[in-house]
Amino acid sequence: MSVKILDHALIKHKLSIMRDKNTSTYIFKQNLDEIAMLMAYEVSKDFPLKLKDIETPVCKTTGYEVDKQIVLVPILRAGIGLVDGFRTIMPNAKIGHIGMYRDEETLIPHEYYARFPSGLESSKVIIVDPMLATGGSAMDAIKAIKDRGAKDIMMVCLVGAPEGVKALQEAHPDVDITLAALDHHLNEKGYIVPGLGDAGDRLFGTD
Ligand code: URA
Repeated sequence: MSVKILDHALIKHKLSIMRDKNTSTYIFKQNLDEIAMLMAYEVSKDFPLKLKDIETPVCKTTGYEVDKQIVLVPILRAGIGLVDGFRTIMPNAKIGHIGMYRDEETLIPHEYYARFPSGLESSKVIIVDPMLATGGSAMDAIKAIKDRGAKDIMMVCLVGAPEGVKALQEAHPDVDITLAALDHHLNEKGYIVPGLGDAGDRLFGTD
């Protein structure tokens, strides 16, 4: 449906800190948390609301309540890095998890872990993964979540490559994509250029 690249000074500032190869694991995670909060704020702008009777200390009036269960689904492992920031803004969100790998010979995707809250059919599902590179794991995760009944899905990534965005749009045109930045291309090793390296390694201090 749509691809939205957020245009926000703080996101650009914080993402530049994350891109710097000399940024420590601790500062990398801190900036990821802060960007995740800003992205959560942006993607939740048009969440459906219902009216709700409330009583202020002064009088009775009508307020609002988000009218849909929100389910956040990080794609393992790097997607976990976006969960804290989103949960700060959406504390009532339920969390699902999905881990996929592709058989290197057959290219058939396999789920090695999947656990979701009930009610996916009527929930707004936000899939999060820092890097949208080839789009392979995002496409597989979306299919796995649709197969379990989800109908209202959005994909939120920090950095996307044009190749991954195109592939995802073609495979799942009903899924809106939100990025903090759209980078130039994928290199021969599958890294986004300029990117930030391996998001999972930088987040968890592995190499
Ligand atoms: N996954 C990453 O973590 N980084 C990339 O650049 C591409 C895929």
